[in-house]
Amino acid sequence: MFGGLSGKSALVTGASSGLGLHFARLLAEHRCHVTLAARRLDIVSQQAEALKEAGNSADAIALDVASAASIEAAFGAVSAPFDIVVNNAGITVSEAALDMADGEFERIIATNLTGVFNVAKAAGGAMKAAGRGGVIVNVASILGLRVASHLSAYAASKAAVVQLTKSLALEWARYGIRVNALCPGYIETPLNADFFASDAGKALIKRIPQRRLGRMEELDGPLLLLASDAGSYMTGSIIAADGGHLVSSL
Ligand code: NAI
Repeated sequence: MFGGLSGKSALVTGASSGLGLHFARLLAEHRCHVTLAARRLDIVSQQAEALKEAGNSADAIALDVASAASIEAAFGAVSAPFDIVVNNAGITVSEAALDMADGEFERIIATNLTGVFNVAKAAGGAMKAAGRGGVIVNVASILGLRVASHLSAYAASKAAVVQLTKSLALEWARYGIRVNALCPGYIETPLNADFFASDAGKALIKRIPQRRLGRMEELDGPLLLLASDAGSYMTGSIIAADGGHLVSSL
C-alpha cells in the first residue's frame, strides 16, 4: 500500500526523541535510508547505530533548525538531495502571553516556523535542482487550527506552518515536490507522560471525543500516506490525527 518508499533517502529533523525518533524508525522499517538530524549529534548517532544494528540503513547529522548556518552546513554535507523530508523539530512553551519574557515569542517562531521554512527551502532547492521531485511533510499541530490557553506563540507558529505548507505546495507542484502537513492531536510521548497523569492532564483528555491520548503508532498511517506514492495526488493537504479533538463540542 505504501509504495515507493524502498531505497528513498529521508531526513527527519528533531529525530533525537519523541515523534521524530519514531518517524525515523518507521521510515527505516519501510526501507528508506534515514538521516536522523538533531542538535546533539552524539544522541542521533547512537539512534542511527541502533537502526543499523537492526538491519536498517541510517546515518546522523548535526542540525539546529533555528540556525541558518547550521542548516546550510548540514545540507552542504550531503551528497544527494533527500527524497523525503520530515520537518518535525519543534518546541513548546506553555505560558500566559502577558508573562512571556522578551525574546521568548521570537525563540519559538525561530524553531517552529523559520526553521521549518529554512529546512524546506534547502531541501526543496536541492530537489528542484535534481529534477526528480520529492516530498516534504511538515509536522504542525491541531494548535495550528484551533487555540488553547497559554500557547499563543506555539499556536501562532503552527498556524503559520499550515499556511506555509499550502504556499510551498502551490509554488513547488510544478517541480514534482509535494508539501503536506500533519496535525497531530495530543500524543503521549516520554516528555509529556507526567503532565497527562496529572489532574490537569486528565481533565484535558476528557475533552477529546475519543476520551484518550493518541499513541505514536497512530500517526504511522498518515505519515506514510503523505511520504509515499499512496499520497501521490496530495499536495497542500493538512491532515489531522487527533481523536476528534478538532470537532469537540463548542
Ligand atoms: P519532543 O520534544 O520529544 O521532540 C522535539 C524534537 O525536536 C527533539 O528531538 C528536540 O531536540 C528537537 N528540537 C528542538 N529544537 C530543535 C532545533 N532548534 N533544531 C533541531 N532539533 C530541535 O516533542 P514531540 O512531542 O516529539 O514533538 C515533535 C513535533 O511534533 C513538534 O514539532 C511538535 O510541535 C509536534 N507535535 C507534537 C504533539 C504531541 O502531542 N507530542 C502534538 C502535535 C504536534
